[in-house]
Amino acid sequence: VFISEISGFRVLETQLQEKLNIEQAIVVRGNSDNLDLVKQEIGKAAAAYLRSRQANGQTIAVTGGTTMAAVASVMTPFENAGSCLFVPARGGIGEKVESQANTIVAEMAKRTNGDYRMLYVPDPLSEQSYQTMLKEPSIQEVTELIRSADIILHGIGDALTMANRRKSSEKLIDHLKEQHAVSEAFGYYFNSKGDVVHKVRTIGIQLEDLKSVNKVVAIAGGKSKAQAITSYFNQGKADLLITDEAAAKAIIHE
Ligand code: BG6
Repeated sequence: VFISEISGFRVLETQLQEKLNIEQAIVVRGNSDNLDLVKQEIGKAAAAYLRSRQANGQTIAVTGGTTMAAVASVMTPFENAGSCLFVPARGGIGEKVESQANTIVAEMAKRTNGDYRMLYVPDPLSEQSYQTMLKEPSIQEVTELIRSADIILHGIGDALTMANRRKSSEKLIDHLKEQHAVSEAFGYYFNSKGDVVHKVRTIGIQLEDLKSVNKVVAIAGGKSKAQAITSYFNQGKADLLITDEAAAKAIIHE
């Protein structure tokens, strides 16, 4: 099913690659805004991608979110199972337990017979606790793993949807509106040009770390995320986008 769907969307994928100026785009059928099943299809595409990259033995940093939870839920063992290490890309950033990166990496490791690490940090952190926590050896170990990850899998969200979901203060929400924030990824908020307008202070991956990671994979679908995806890719941060038909079409026709 996966192969035929890929070829069925070849044209759309090529158009999307050109529009967003990215190396590779993978599109699955449907609109994840309307159907949770589509998130799982996105998940299967992500799992197939990892398998095709022979991700065994690699370190994979993963963010939270409902899309990433769906990715975890459909993963199956890699061929030479056992050696993949999953690490949370950033601290909790205000997600429910089931969509937290910690929960997701544990699930991915379980399903692929891999290994995982946890990142125990509350968020957002005050400047003082942030500086203290950075010095913790157990936290340093995980942040090192994140920085030297072979692959990063991360979601992209609509800025205000994410800010509300994280129960951000009114002050922050006003700030995001004033700054015309459009997208969010791993705790960073971006405007339509892809400039950072706000960042949640938490431990884990920082935007500048993306440069040293071999493959950055953004995973986000749904028509409602079209503008967010476009905004995020305006400064070309990821190498690959895995999305759905509804988001892809909306992005192309924007
Ligand atoms: C967050 C990630 O946990 O999930 C973000 O840190 C992403 O990168 C967001 O924007 C997306 O969530 P969802 O539920 O729309 O997949």
